[in-house]
Amino acid sequence: MIRSRIVGTGSYLPERVMTNADLEKLVDTSDTWIRERTGIRERRIAAPGQTTGDLAVEAGLRAIEAAGVDPQEIDMLIIGTSTPDAVFPSTACLIQQRLGIRPGAIAMDVAAACTGFIYALGVADRFIRTGGARRALVIGAETFSRILNWEDRTTCVLFGDGAGAVLLEASDSEGVISTHLHSDGINADLLHVPWGVSQGYDQLQGAAGTVHMRGNEVFKVAVRTLGRVVDETLEANGLSRADIDWVVPHQANIRIISATARSLDVPLERVVLTVDKHGNTSAASIPLALDTAVRDGRIQRGNLLLLEAFGAGFTWGSALVRY
Ligand code: ACO
Repeated sequence: MIRSRIVGTGSYLPERVMTNADLEKLVDTSDTWIRERTGIRERRIAAPGQTTGDLAVEAGLRAIEAAGVDPQEIDMLIIGTSTPDAVFPSTACLIQQRLGIRPGAIAMDVAAACTGFIYALGVADRFIRTGGARRALVIGAETFSRILNWEDRTTCVLFGDGAGAVLLEASDSEGVISTHLHSDGINADLLHVPWGVSQGYDQLQGAAGTVHMRGNEVFKVAVRTLGRVVDETLEANGLSRADIDWVVPHQANIRIISATARSLDVPLERVVLTVDKHGNTSAASIPLALDTAVRDGRIQRGNLLLLEAFGAGFTWGSALVRY
């Protein structure tokens, strides 16, 4: 049976650090409120002109280097993002050459907001299992700073920019064990950017192009839904909570992460936390956290990882991975 295995990870953060104190100068907020309600202390902001694709290239090259693989042998490039460089071509096509990936490979973007990386991983894993690709570079990359209303304190303090990547390779041994992808569009307007090219430029003047969120309502659904998806993942594999070595969650809010860890009975010491330093980087947050814990030595070969995310759509999902 062919499985996909993670053979390299990489990540990249833009240089500019924006602290909570910096935000105090922009909106009526405080470091204490942001830390207590979200766990965020600082986030990174892309430089003017630095695009999602630019961040994705850096993260992707680091994953390729960590894997020691010739990029010409990569069959598939898939990017989870909601902040693409262009309507088309896809961000994946735009950076394919810069990554050294051979002409003729499969390249595409997947839009599932904060669940974008889990969706992209699930798609790549299925391609590899069914023989459609042997090596897939899966990237989560975002420049959410470009779609924030910097006068709206309820959203602008939450997000940051960054990118993370994993290189998957076909293998006989255990790797990505299962992925679980879901959506429900009924509550789409609780968290959205209510603008898109097909709506035209004139209709939504003023409200166009920025994140709108009813945070409190999203929070409740997120906690409930993530609890269900982690149970589903364990049940599908006949595992118990004690089998998980590391939880690598989407980094939206320390309170959501803590609630999910509690429902799993996993102490926070076994949860990879980067929300304090990265904020919510949407589709980039899980691969950024994964790469951080791989490089600092916490995550070791053979560890069982549970990745989980919830985001706009609503979309949600998980992946169980033997690293
Ligand atoms: N600074 C100070 N006060 C603030 C700020 C701020 N930055 N933002 C809101 N407040 C105020 C509100 O106005 C409100 O004041 P009021 O009581 O006088 O009306 C008060 O703080 C409480 O507001 P709530 O929205 O109830 O605060 P809550 O505890 O829910 O925290 C938060 C807000 C952090 C947004 C939380 O609801 C959350 O994390 N939600 C889920 C986010 C999420 O997971 N999103 C999914 C992924 S993102 C994606 O897919 C793109």
